[in-house]
Amino acid sequence: IEPTVRLNDPLSIVSHEMSHLAKNIASLIGSGHSTLNKVAAYYFESDGKKLRPLIVLLISRCLSVIDESERTRLNPDYMDSYDQPSYKGTNSSILTITKGDVNTSLSPLNILHGMNPKLILDPLSKPLNQLPNIDQSSNLGILPKQRRLAEIIELIHTASLLHDDVIDFSDSRRGRPSGNYAFSNKMAVLAGDFLLARASVALARIRNPEVIELISTAIANLVEGEFMQLKNTVLNKNENMLDSGKYLPPQKYDKVPVKLQNHGVQIPNENLNLDHRDNILAAFEYYLHKSYLKTASLMSKSCRASAVLSGVNEKLIDHCYEFGRNLGLCFQIVDDVLDYTIAADQLGKPAGADLKLGLATAPVLYAWQEEPALGKLIARKFNQPGDIERAIESVMRHNGIEKSKQLAEKYRNLALENLKKLPESESRYALEFITNSVLTRTK
Ligand code: FPP
Ligand code: MG
Ligand code: MG
Repeated sequence: IEPTVRLNDPLSIVSHEMSHLAKNIASLIGSGHSTLNKVAAYYFESDGKKLRPLIVLLISRCLSVIDESERTRLNPDYMDSYDQPSYKGTNSSILTITKGDVNTSLSPLNILHGMNPKLILDPLSKPLNQLPNIDQSSNLGILPKQRRLAEIIELIHTASLLHDDVIDFSDSRRGRPSGNYAFSNKMAVLAGDFLLARASVALARIRNPEVIELISTAIANLVEGEFMQLKNTVLNKNENMLDSGKYLPPQKYDKVPVKLQNHGVQIPNENLNLDHRDNILAAFEYYLHKSYLKTASLMSKSCRASAVLSGVNEKLIDHCYEFGRNLGLCFQIVDDVLDYTIAADQLGKPAGADLKLGLATAPVLYAWQEEPALGKLIARKFNQPGDIERAIESVMRHNGIEKSKQLAEKYRNLALENLKKLPESESRYALEFITNSVLTRTK
């Protein structure tokens, strides 16, 4: 890559794509109910980072340079996507449908003929082949299905934020009142469900069972990750849990992403009698596993799905998955650090929320490593007067923030290593840029 290219905004290569994202998402979330429309569209109105779709689009573009002959994976989908008729408006009344060499002109009446007029009001009643498309000059090798995947991931992520803000009793998000605060818990939950449902329809219409399975598993993982946090709430009623050495060993990472796996509630092993060091190790493994489920799973599986749709070989698909996993873990650890270090007005959401919610994230786990007595406070979820202040003081004294940043840096480096396995290109450089900014971000 020429140094001059590096001086440009690395994200500019997909800015055209990103500008279409909001419009395409809007076309997926319309309903027949005006209030539902308002709540469902609410989080899309404020500027989110749009990190997940950005990554999907850049991975898609990065893999598009791979020669067709090297797309050895038995995946009819790759050809399928190119084979789809593209609808091009020629004038206001006629559409030309191009499939291969055959051109057919249809009037709108012909197109509507045979369709249930009621369905026409539903944006999703459009035929599958009306996947989002952008004029050919700026197509960038990104397939319509990959573009749709990027939109679906943002829908799912937004649905999870609506639900998360209910669970976390949040009152703000992206510098505005949060959905639950602005519209009520009930509406926020229903709007989240609605976004999830629309994402599911769009996902089914990608017509790729492997992609459907991946993304559905990621949704299940989001819930499992949240449950691991809730589960602490329930188990910590036993205040002696940590002191008696019954800290729960986590299950192994979900390294086989395609298969549905049981990350269900774990039963404490009565025979476990762990010492402090083992407790710390178990706690960190639990924390990282939870972070994988609640954050890294959606990122890694969407990267994987993007690679599956491009039809590249299994090895490359794995590198894309690992990249998303490491980036996601880095992202969540940084998120947990920012909860300690950045003020709410800059974050656009509540700060210092984790300790108030009783959550022990990386900074406090590092403090606990140096100060075993902190185990009691963690076990009782910092619910006694002065617990939160004592935990913060201990985090500062034992450099919990710096150590957490180093942990995030470790995953950033792993993600950068994964990227080296992808074809060298402008989009790979953009992915490297994003990976570095995840570590240094302040919101
Ligand atoms: C933000 O974490 C929340 C998540 C990463 C996932 C939330 C998932 C659910 C609520 C499960 C339901 C899922 C769906 C798809 C409806 P955080 O609270 O640590 O971050 P924050 O500071 O941004 O709130
Ligand atoms: Mg939460
Ligand atoms: Mg939250």
